[in-house]
Amino acid sequence: MNHPGTTPFARLTAAPPPSARVRAPGKVNLSLRVGALQDDGYHPLVSVFQAVALFEEVTATQVLPGSGVSLTVDGPQAAAVPLDISNLAWRAALLLAAHTGVEPDVALHVRKGVPVAGGMAGGSADAAAALVACDALWETGVPRSELVELAAQLGSDVPFCLLGHTAVGTGRGHLLTPAMTRGEFHWVFGASDRGLSTPAVFAAFDELTQGGAPPVGLEDDTALMQALRAGDPTALGAALHNDLQDAALSLRPELARTLEIAHETGALGAIVSGSGPTVAALARSRQHALAIAATWTAEGAADTVWTTTGPAHGARQTS
Ligand code: C5P
Repeated sequence: MNHPGTTPFARLTAAPPPSARVRAPGKVNLSLRVGALQDDGYHPLVSVFQAVALFEEVTATQVLPGSGVSLTVDGPQAAAVPLDISNLAWRAALLLAAHTGVEPDVALHVRKGVPVAGGMAGGSADAAAALVACDALWETGVPRSELVELAAQLGSDVPFCLLGHTAVGTGRGHLLTPAMTRGEFHWVFGASDRGLSTPAVFAAFDELTQGGAPPVGLEDDTALMQALRAGDPTALGAALHNDLQDAALSLRPELARTLEIAHETGALGAIVSGSGPTVAALARSRQHALAIAATWTAEGAADTVWTTTGPAHGARQTS
C-alpha cells in the first residue's frame, strides 16, 4: 500500500543501486633485482614487495543491462588518469566478465590514494580492486587463485596488490611467495607530478647494462629477509636495493638530491620506488617520517609527500 504522497516509483528510485567497494594497497619494492631482457619483452625479476597503507578504493555499481563499463576518478592527481579502456581497472572488469560469461555492465569509480605513474603500483592496485569489486557485485564467486591468474594477465604487479603484506616475487614479478615479517615499518614517499613510464625505465636499464645484466637470485637478499623476520628497521634500511634506480636517475637526475636529503635527515635507507620517480625513505618512527617529509617539502625535493606504514593488507572489500 502506498503512503500518502509517495508513489511506488519514488520509493523504487530511493534505493541506491547495489555496489561493492574494495581497497587495494600500493607497494614499495624493498629489493628489486633485474636480469637481462628476454625474448618475450620482459625482464626476469627477483623482488621483495611490501604493501603500504596508501590505498586505492574502487567502487563497482550496478547499471542497466547493456550500459557497458564506465569509469570516473577522483583524488590526488586524478586528472592524470586515463578514463577509457587503457585504464587497468576498466580492463579488469572486461577480463572478469569474459572469464565468467557475464555481461560487462558496471560503473567503476576510483578514488586515488597512491601516486600516479610513480612506481608504487597505483594502477595495478586499481586493477586488483576492480577484479574483487566486480566479482562481488556480479556474484561470480571466482576463487582467489583464479583471480590471481587473471591479475597476472593484467600486469606484473597486479597479483601482489591482491595479496598484499610482504612477498617475494619472481618471473615477471608475478609469481609470489609470502614473506615472514615482524612489526611495522614507517615510510615516507616523495612523489613527482610528472610520472615515469615503466617501459622507458626498463629501456634505460637495458642501455646502462648494455643488455648484459647478470642473472638474478634471492640469495642476495638474505640480510633483507632476516631484517624483515627480526622486525629490525635499521638492518632493513641498510639492505634496501633497487637495480632500476640508476636507470630512473638517468631519466630524472634531480632524484639524487631527494635521496641525499633523506640520508641527511637520518633515514635508515632511501631508494627509488620500483621504476620511480617516487622516492621511498625508511624512517625510525612516525615522528621521524614526518620530519623527513617536512624537509623534502621545505627544500622543494618532492611535489607531494606521503607518510605511511607497511606492511598493509591486500585487496579487501569494505562495503
Ligand atoms: O607487466 P606490466 O604490463 O606492468 O609491464 C609494463 C612494462 O614494463 C612491460 O611492457 C615491459 O616493458 C616492462 N617490464 C619488464 N619486465 C618486467 C615487468 C615489466 O620489462 N618483469
